[in-house]
Amino acid sequence: MTPASPVIRKAVFPVGGMGTRFLPATLAIPKEMLPVVDKPLIQYAVEEAYAAGIREMIFVTGRHKRAIEDHFDTAFELESALGAANKHELLAAIQAIKPDDMVCVYVRQPRPLGLGHAVLCAESLVGDEPFAVLLADDLMLGKPPIMRQMVAAFEDVRASVLAVQDVPLADTKRYGIVDTGGVGGAPGGLVAIKGLVEKPEPAVAPSTLGVAGRYVLTPGIFQQLRQQGRGAGGEIQLTDAIAALMGQESVYAHRYQGVRYDCGTQAGFLEATVQVALARADVQQDFKHYLKTLSLD
Ligand code: G1P
Repeated sequence: MTPASPVIRKAVFPVGGMGTRFLPATLAIPKEMLPVVDKPLIQYAVEEAYAAGIREMIFVTGRHKRAIEDHFDTAFELESALGAANKHELLAAIQAIKPDDMVCVYVRQPRPLGLGHAVLCAESLVGDEPFAVLLADDLMLGKPPIMRQMVAAFEDVRASVLAVQDVPLADTKRYGIVDTGGVGGAPGGLVAIKGLVEKPEPAVAPSTLGVAGRYVLTPGIFQQLRQQGRGAGGEIQLTDAIAALMGQESVYAHRYQGVRYDCGTQAGFLEATVQVALARADVQQDFKHYLKTLSLD
């Protein structure tokens, strides 16, 4: 496991969203608690941050999101029952959810005013230091883990870094799209950004490099967020504040190496489930066997 990073110590997880795309599943359960195989989406994101050396996890929550706090709490009744039943492997897996050197803090986003607003809600907890943002909807797998790649990129340039990937032209309206002045950049490489637009139509998109849900931001973003009016969808957009930050500081795009599953959509969620199951030593054998029985046309 990566030792604690002295440079990026805190990660913000905006988890206050209503999860309307996954109704009715999300009526009583936060969308971040939906499991891919047997692990909730938020745990994948927290593990990724931890693997990047981040030890302070800041959750920006909302109403009906208590299950997330419970998940990262100590379940001592369960733990003593598992111990008494000699189920040591399961006990270790439960205890590993929150390692002793990991701190979880929670702040509420009182109104669903958008991603930028959610990040601003974490300002007093982040303070005056660079920090990570992870959107748990995006399940991202890579070696090294994507956030670790991002922290390494930040250490190189000491400026804000956004994870980007190539997206189909027709899909630009689902992403923040970066303007790199025509420079594509190599996979794993860093490119300075000249502009950034939230969810442009394909005809006006400055590129097909879309922002994935991983950011390392300088604290300068908070001043921009405080001044930020509403943008696309009537929400206070993180994208717009980053675009404004570019007036003061350099911002870079990092073409991460790995895969992203958009678990904010049913199709992406299903893809993640299939791929994670196929990669899991304890599940793959039976699951492959089942998949081979399917005749798909
Ligand atoms: C958010 C951001 C967008 C980014 C995307 C990545 O959009 O606003 O810039 O490209 O996450 O998943 P959302 O998917 O929350 O609509």
